[in-house]
Amino acid sequence: MTLDTAHNLTLEEMDRQSIVHPNTDLKAYASGALGDPQIMETGHGIHIVDSQGRDLIDAFAGLYCVNVGYGRTEIAEAIYEQAKKLPYFHTYRGASNEPLIRLSDRVLRMAPENMSKIYYGMSGSDANETQVKIVWYYNNVLGRPNKKKIIARRFAYHGLTILSGSMTGIPSFHQAFDLPLPMVRHTTTPHHYRYAEEGMSERDFARKCAADLDALIEEEGPETVAAFIGEPAMGTGGIMPPPEGYWGEIQKVLDKHDVLLIADEVVCGFGRTGSNFGSQTYDMKPDLMTIAKGLTSGYVPLSGSIVGERVWEVLCRGSEQFGIFTHGYTYSGHPLGAAAAMANLDIVEGEDLAGNAKRTGGYMLKRMNQVFADHPLVGEVRGVGLLAAIEFVADKKTKQAFEAPLRVSAKVAEECLKNGMIVRAMPSGDALAYAPPLVITPDEVDRIVEITEKSLTKVTDELARDGTI
Ligand SMILES: Cc1ncc(COP(=O)(O)O)c(C=O)c1O
Repeated sequence: MTLDTAHNLTLEEMDRQSIVHPNTDLKAYASGALGDPQIMETGHGIHIVDSQGRDLIDAFAGLYCVNVGYGRTEIAEAIYEQAKKLPYFHTYRGASNEPLIRLSDRVLRMAPENMSKIYYGMSGSDANETQVKIVWYYNNVLGRPNKKKIIARRFAYHGLTILSGSMTGIPSFHQAFDLPLPMVRHTTTPHHYRYAEEGMSERDFARKCAADLDALIEEEGPETVAAFIGEPAMGTGGIMPPPEGYWGEIQKVLDKHDVLLIADEVVCGFGRTGSNFGSQTYDMKPDLMTIAKGLTSGYVPLSGSIVGERVWEVLCRGSEQFGIFTHGYTYSGHPLGAAAAMANLDIVEGEDLAGNAKRTGGYMLKRMNQVFADHPLVGEVRGVGLLAAIEFVADKKTKQAFEAPLRVSAKVAEECLKNGMIVRAMPSGDALAYAPPLVITPDEVDRIVEITEKSLTKVTDELARDGTI
């Protein structure tokens, strides 16, 4: 498309002719068939306001990242002060900056005990990419050049760069991009409602997931499998907290085959599940932890690959063999990200947002169960902390999903938007997902439930009217 410079373009027109939007139907969007962009202008608390002046509840905190809510001037001021003082310097070869040093010490104190050092990036995707490089380096140092495969779960989400996108287990993110790469495998999704056999307890299903992982590692050859990566509670695949006992059973299999555990804490980290980290909520024993989103509440891009002591010790041995650790980005350890993160964590810890996620999240799940669990189109209401999903089904008894392309979740999300609230229909399955800012109050939860109920009723009536149900 040639750039139209003939007349004064509106912002909407300029957007359509100049931006490649992520996860968007490119042609339909560029042609205007999807309507105008929704240009966001400002925000306050759990609300975001667009250029039409519409004040919307953001029940997904952007992309589950604005944990402290919008409009926190403390963070804006910390960024401003740091930008005046030192906007940038790299962190190669021991160069550093004060907010980064203080931040690293602070995050390691919040993390499980064995965590040792942090490497910084800009996104969850690049941080997971770094984790894989670290794992490969680790096995090269140990003289195990064949121990390189990574196992993730089907419907996992770990990002969309080439390796992180390979570890992501949602087919729609693979098909047009020649992914996954050949060294990545996927195992059973730990979602009891969908994948447990009739009558199987959560504990038995957890054991089955572990047995499936064990069988996969045996089939591949334990000498070829380097690491297992998992979100403590699965997010973008449909908000799926693990069945009871899952991580303990998985850990036994990983220990047996000397396979490292990478906990992808990009969503769960910094309070979302009711503890500082999902690894603590589920008593996981990760060797590496990936952090992003809640580290700065999205105010500035910043991510981290946290390395546990066991891995760190081997990385150091690598210096003798390989010399310099030749991995790094221009923006690794950016001072503005670090300053934003410090101010953000002052709020997260000062206002006990992990505690609020537990209390108010517990209330949100209870209310959602009370209002939606018996609805004829609802198969399951599930969640942990301030993460929740409502899954829709055509048949409550058989759990049969609606036939594509009908996605009730997308219809309800559209209706919610008309009613003043952003919620997210997840990219696979038929789940409507909630991950509001962690500053949410019980009254605001009531409002979220109320808008969802009104929207679901409207969609249900329409489906009944046109004979779909
Ligand atoms: C668990 C998890 N890991 C990694 C990522 C990728 O993060 P980013 O989009 O910042 O690359 C996401 C993004 O939603 C995520 O949910």
